Amino acid sequence: MTKAKEATTPVLRLTDVQKSFGPVHALKSVSLEIHRGEVIGLIGENGAGKSTLLKILTGIYQPDRGTIAVNGATMKFRNPRDSASAGIGVVHQEQSLFTNLTVAENIAMNGAASKGYGTTFGFYRWGKLNKAAAQTLEIIGSRLNPKTRVGDLSFVDRQMVEIARAISVDTSKNATPLVILDEPTSLLERGETAILEREIRKLKDFGSVIFVSHRLDEIIRNCDRILVMRNGELVADRVTTSVTEDELFKLMVGHESHATKHERRARPVNETPAIEVTGLTRKGKFKNISLSLHPGRVTAIVGTSGSGREEFSRALFGAEKFDGGTIMLNGRAARGWRIPKAVKRGMGFVPAERKVEGMVGGFTAAENIVLTHPGDAAFGPFLKPWKRNKIAQQWFTTLDVRPNDISQNLERFSGGNQQKVVMAKWLNDPELRVLVLDHPLRGLDPGAAETVNEQIKAACKKGTAVILLADTLEEALEMGDDVIVMRDGIVSASYDLTVDNPSTLDLLERMV
Ligand SMILES: Nc1ncnc2c1ncn2[C@@H]1O[C@H](COP(=O)(O)OP(=O)(O)OP(=O)(O)O)[C@@H](O)[C@H]1O
Ligand SMILES: [Mg+2]
Repeated sequence: MTKAKEATTPVLRLTDVQKSFGPVHALKSVSLEIHRGEVIGLIGENGAGKSTLLKILTGIYQPDRGTIAVNGATMKFRNPRDSASAGIGVVHQEQSLFTNLTVAENIAMNGAASKGYGTTFGFYRWGKLNKAAAQTLEIIGSRLNPKTRVGDLSFVDRQMVEIARAISVDTSKNATPLVILDEPTSLLERGETAILEREIRKLKDFGSVIFVSHRLDEIIRNCDRILVMRNGELVADRVTTSVTEDELFKLMVGHESHATKHERRARPVNETPAIEVTGLTRKGKFKNISLSLHPGRVTAIVGTSGSGREEFSRALFGAEKFDGGTIMLNGRAARGWRIPKAVKRGMGFVPAERKVEGMVGGFTAAENIVLTHPGDAAFGPFLKPWKRNKIAQQWFTTLDVRPNDISQNLERFSGGNQQKVVMAKWLNDPELRVLVLDHPLRGLDPGAAETVNEQIKAACKKGTAVILLADTLEEALEMGDDVIVMRDGIVSASYDLTVDNPSTLDLLERMV
């Protein structure tokens, strides 16, 4: 092969790749090319087919039709090992490390045997394994000890191990690995994202990257070229320098953004707070927190992962205990505080781990929606199915839940659509006084995020007080009436955004 030819052969070429799951055409006909040293942003609504495409590239699914060529050679990936030996490494949407193994062992998962770390009796060659892991970590600028157990690492460090594993694919046959990152930042806080973004830029020096994220600012900052998927098809391929966030939104969602500005409500005097907390304390988690939240206002709480904000907000809802201090709801003390009491007194909670706590998996979407607040579907101890379905259908329409099928098991919906249903469950309470939202936009595409945000604003207009643990500081500043900064379990700063105008940097300074 001549030098000139080599320079133009794409690292990856897909031609007419198709994939269906029963009646669902997850990929209709996808063709694309990726070149050496490129960072490609892959965006699209929830369910557009991004993960399906990446799973085909990594041998988890086989395409129904179409071809994959790596460095000009057509490939068939029967399993993840085939794709790893072709130089493709992946960080999946859900973390997939083995927490009981060490950093080095996890990194070696990408075909350790082929690299001669194993011996005939199945034992690892520890010295070699740890050394190789240390070298890989160094490439991405991480100083993690290869002998540490993954279970003892922070989330961002685990993500680094995932990346190290992804780039430790077999590069003996071709010098440029392709590293695929499927929403690696959706669970990270802002400070941690910055570290990861730096790693992505480093990957460019020796390989190509496909990067999936719903945060359009992040995509624009890090990618050279952006591919947009909609309904299983690639609908746009743009050089980053020639697009704006607004254009990308429109390309993904199919219409302009309808976002309205949150109308802030000045902190009222002589009004009974919806919820008032005095000296709330839980040993080792949060200490002496006092806040009052008024109807129609959003209080955003920001902080790093050890700040105690998760524990505090869960304690408000009775999902975790506290050792000292008091909670008053509408002027009445909350005693023996447990979830059922909180719900009865008009509180709602959208947890970060919606799969674990937010929904009942075996139930249909309709059943989930009326679960806690059946409204007029209740008939004594029974439910009137047609009323239940009517209520559920109304929410499906309002929130644009896809697919529009209320009788489908909630587990089968994509993450973003599950989140909308979990929101509906609480919004169906006509007397919702306090709504605690723990990362409500996590994993949502920008269109779905907008829908959910509009519902939060609508709830405020009806007088609900909202506590918001946002994904980003920008989101906190945009949606909040108040911003509370927590650090090491205490409130380190608080801003009333109807008067103060802090920057993200101001907040960051109080967070760390
Ligand atoms: N194993 C499967 N069985 C049936 N349907 C599936 C399967 N995997 C994906 N789908 C469907 O294929 C479509 C594409 O899903 P995919 O997970 O690729 O979307 P995505 O773009 O990654 O979305 P998100 O942003 O929510 O991660 C969806 O309609 C989804 O419900
Ligand atoms: Mg996905």
